[in-house]
Amino acid sequence: MNRKDAHVHNAIMQYSEKETDFESIRFVHPSLSHQEFNSIDLSTTIFDRKFDRPFYINAMSGGSAWTKKINAMLAEVARETHLPMAPGSVSAALKDPSVADSYTVIRDVNPNGFIMANLGADKTLEDAKRAVDLLEADAFQIHLNTPQEIVMPEGDRDFRKLEDNIVSIVEGLDIPVMVKETGFGMSYQTMHHLQSLGVRTIDVSGTGGTNFADIENARRENKEFAYMTDWGQSTAISLLEAQPLMNQTTILASGGVKNPMHILKSLALGASAVGMSVQFLHGVLTKGVPATIKMVEEYDEQLRLLMMVLDCQNIDDLLNTDLIISGKPAEWSRLRRIN
Ligand code: FNR
Repeated sequence: MNRKDAHVHNAIMQYSEKETDFESIRFVHPSLSHQEFNSIDLSTTIFDRKFDRPFYINAMSGGSAWTKKINAMLAEVARETHLPMAPGSVSAALKDPSVADSYTVIRDVNPNGFIMANLGADKTLEDAKRAVDLLEADAFQIHLNTPQEIVMPEGDRDFRKLEDNIVSIVEGLDIPVMVKETGFGMSYQTMHHLQSLGVRTIDVSGTGGTNFADIENARRENKEFAYMTDWGQSTAISLLEAQPLMNQTTILASGGVKNPMHILKSLALGASAVGMSVQFLHGVLTKGVPATIKMVEEYDEQLRLLMMVLDCQNIDDLLNTDLIISGKPAEWSRLRRIN
């Protein structure tokens, strides 16, 4: 099976309502509310631009006939719901122009949508400019994925250029750039360092959802890297790590987000918006486009209802909710040494 198709296949095989550290983040229930459904404002600002909903379709597919169909379906969902969307890494199209249409289909289906191009940090500014042109992209995602690369037999074995590439892409593109993880989470130190390199938007993309160590290990004949299965920080823990940086950096959350409560908890922990990958993939592949559009509308409604219970009129009000942090995130915070 083509590698891109295997990623989709394995991600769907792996899909489950597994435990994430979101269970350890709890809202303290306030019994009084002052809210009215129609006055709840779900809008958020990222890249100095206002979006109606605080969630988006995060990077996944492209590079094959099957993933072209998937991208077309995801783009239809994005078009009908006005969600921002990123396809998977465009690197396959830069190497082989014959698969470029598996990415450009997104622009064809959704000409006016907010689309983020995506490439790994191993790619140069020139590559990034080509990816942006290909998709007429509105923003750019640079992904970090060193654990995936080492488990991948054909993965990158030289990470020396990552930092230089990030700096030149952030400085050289004339659209907003974010750096994202790929389901392994980020530490305070990583985010602080990215901030010092000029990165203004970061998606922590933590553990709890799609696990690329497992996905790549499943592709290996002898499955040697099974011990990497719990590598990384959960999304909840990554958001706790990001707390001191939130004044200067827009923090986005993804990784294991599968329902409106996960979205709300991420926003309450300071994320400005929340990305979902496998949840949308699962939606379009198992239920189809209309049902996935309906899922987005239901999320919208449930977010508004839950915000009424939390007595929050808008996303910023969520920052003032009372939270109890227990379990692994609490233990992490207690034992964490920040150098
Ligand atoms: C991904 N992800 C990803 N990320 C990225 O930056 N570039 C990419 O090409 C891909 N490819 C990809 C393929 C598939 C099939 C999946 C499911 C995911 C990672 C993704 O954007 C996200 O960071 C993680 O999947 C964690 O989020 P979920 O899936 O738990 O919501």
